[in-house]
Amino acid sequence: MSKSISEKTILNRTQSIPFSEILERNMSRRTVMRGGLAAAFATMTSLGLAGCNSGDDDDADNGQAPGNPVAPPAALKLGFESLPNSMTDGCVVPAGYVAHVFAAWGTPLNDNAQPWDQNGNNSSNDLLNAMGMHHDGMHFFPIEGSSTEGLLAVNHEYIDAQALHPNGPTLVAGKRPAEEVRKEINAHGVAIVHVRRESGRWVIVNNSRYNRRFTSATAMKLAGPVGGTDWVKTPFSPNGTQVRGTNNNCGNGYTPWGTYITAEENWAACFVNTGTRPAHQRRVGVSASAGRYRWETAAGDASEVLGEFARFNVTETGADATQDWRNEVNGFGYLVEIDPYDPSSIATKRTSMGRFAHEGCTYSKPEAGKPLAFYSGDDSRFEYIYRFVSEAVWDPKDAERTDRLAVGAKYLDKGTLYVARFNDDGTGEWLALTGTATGAGGRTLADEFGSLDAILINTRGAADFVGATPMDRPEWTVTHPTNGDIYVTLTNNSSRNAASGTNGPNPRLNNVNGHIVRWHDEAGSTKFKWDIFVFGSDAGADADTNRSGLTELNQLASPDGLGFDPRGILWIQTDNGIDGGRNNNVARATNDQMLAVIPGALADSTGTGPAINASNQASLRRFFVGPNEAEITGFAFTPDYTSIFLNVQHPVNWPAYGTDDAAVVTTTAVRPRSSTVVIQRADGGPIGV
Ligand code: FEO
Ligand code: CA
Ligand code: CA
Ligand code: CA
Repeated sequence: MSKSISEKTILNRTQSIPFSEILERNMSRRTVMRGGLAAAFATMTSLGLAGCNSGDDDDADNGQAPGNPVAPPAALKLGFESLPNSMTDGCVVPAGYVAHVFAAWGTPLNDNAQPWDQNGNNSSNDLLNAMGMHHDGMHFFPIEGSSTEGLLAVNHEYIDAQALHPNGPTLVAGKRPAEEVRKEINAHGVAIVHVRRESGRWVIVNNSRYNRRFTSATAMKLAGPVGGTDWVKTPFSPNGTQVRGTNNNCGNGYTPWGTYITAEENWAACFVNTGTRPAHQRRVGVSASAGRYRWETAAGDASEVLGEFARFNVTETGADATQDWRNEVNGFGYLVEIDPYDPSSIATKRTSMGRFAHEGCTYSKPEAGKPLAFYSGDDSRFEYIYRFVSEAVWDPKDAERTDRLAVGAKYLDKGTLYVARFNDDGTGEWLALTGTATGAGGRTLADEFGSLDAILINTRGAADFVGATPMDRPEWTVTHPTNGDIYVTLTNNSSRNAASGTNGPNPRLNNVNGHIVRWHDEAGSTKFKWDIFVFGSDAGADADTNRSGLTELNQLASPDGLGFDPRGILWIQTDNGIDGGRNNNVARATNDQMLAVIPGALADSTGTGPAINASNQASLRRFFVGPNEAEITGFAFTPDYTSIFLNVQHPVNWPAYGTDDAAVVTTTAVRPRSSTVVIQRADGGPIGV
């Protein structure tokens, strides 16, 4: 995301130690003063002292991460040299690679859209039939296993209203013009794009029946515990089973049964409540004054279809929920499942997986007969990491079924949501967000919130209550393909200061560079072990900041996108806020980038420091650098690894007109266009090795 839509307000009062623990401490002081101490430390009893296992260092320059040796097959090594820093209006790839601009914002998916207009004159209807703006998470779904034909699912996270309209957004007598708002709504969401490699180059299959757009107005199902409850009944859906739109779709996931998951992240600020905001709205940041794009101001007359704009104003004005849009916002904040292979299917919001600023989603290594687990970070300062465990146990035959959303209902609508509590000693515990979970004073979540649907609506509040660990902005999560370790990017947190303090997995004050933490769940348990994989830093920082010993060739800050390919290569992408000014030393040295490393297993970590450290940092190599001001995000690859796709989001003066070579540095001012970039080896070989 850009600085322009990130949530800067700290919505979590808890900043270092869990909020419930602060309550407990205060309460226990009072209790002690009264002369008795009840067993009030229910959330503090899991302080085991098991450390991480030790392992040998290995300095071999083979692309592996020694100090953390093992795992990858001996034959697997990175086959490119780390790129130098770059700050141009072009993309950079290693020698022997080519990069092409593909499926840029406004590229038609069918003949109902006019070609993209470089003066910004496309209509809302064009956007409904073309690639949206600000590409983010994505996934490649092969057609019959092919590496030359498939469906690319792409998130469109948000908009640059200045670039979207000919001369930027307008406000006329306090109202946004309806056509502008419809265009903005249609520029958000998700695209499913049928793609094919022809004569070595990727093209969109125009008018394919698979090509689809989901926007911030597309009708979707609400499934799971919140679906059909009073929380989500609106004039559009009086029985609470549907909502229009998915919004601010950031990172993504996918499932073992072939569906796509799109994550709703910074949706809350699109809504306004000028009345009394309930606790759950304050906790997620629904605006008290105006929606982010003031969509709520448009029309308001007979031209408005079923409250298409009014619904962004969730102020209570009518007698009940059938008379106003008070519940509209409760239909947002979820992981949304899409079946890309079935063009007639309806996207489904899986409310059991929690409601917060979902960055993305990854699943645990599936094992037959065992439940599946899904992980999701909540990207805001001092927010949490969540795990959803299915009630159903995994049946590998479900991977072959064609009623994929029914499979999704089987695994994703019933289960238990947990939130992570990290202990400082390298252990941690998943705390269940169920009615019987206890928090301060021995009260339960049911006492505090009521039924499960109410707990899910205010997931953050429930996580506060049970004592989750506040993190430095959890972004993407990914699972190692063979050893099952889960990695999370903690992108940065400049608000972590002396007053808020540090904790084990968030050990740096003024964490402007971010870091990556990983953990491994104990089988069949709520326990896990964790360590820190790498600390972001500029090369010139002192040892306390540059704890991973990074150099000019791999200095990084604000890690965000993450992808494991099945070979075990970890791809790390950055979103260093360069569009907000080059405000840290990494941003002053290089544009955002993608790096690669072949990690060993957490179980083999030495437990003495970050897995990537001065002795092995050369195994972390820079593979790609993007154009000025752009974030690099989203990662997909073909099954044979000969093509990878990434997204260049919010560039300032790229791509050049008249070429699809992503490396070309334009010499004129262009209307910037977020785009997918497809990277291939000039010799057609597999990427990265
Ligand atoms: Fe949309 Fe947290 O990045
Ligand atoms: Ca980010
Ligand atoms: Ca950004
Ligand atoms: Ca992100």
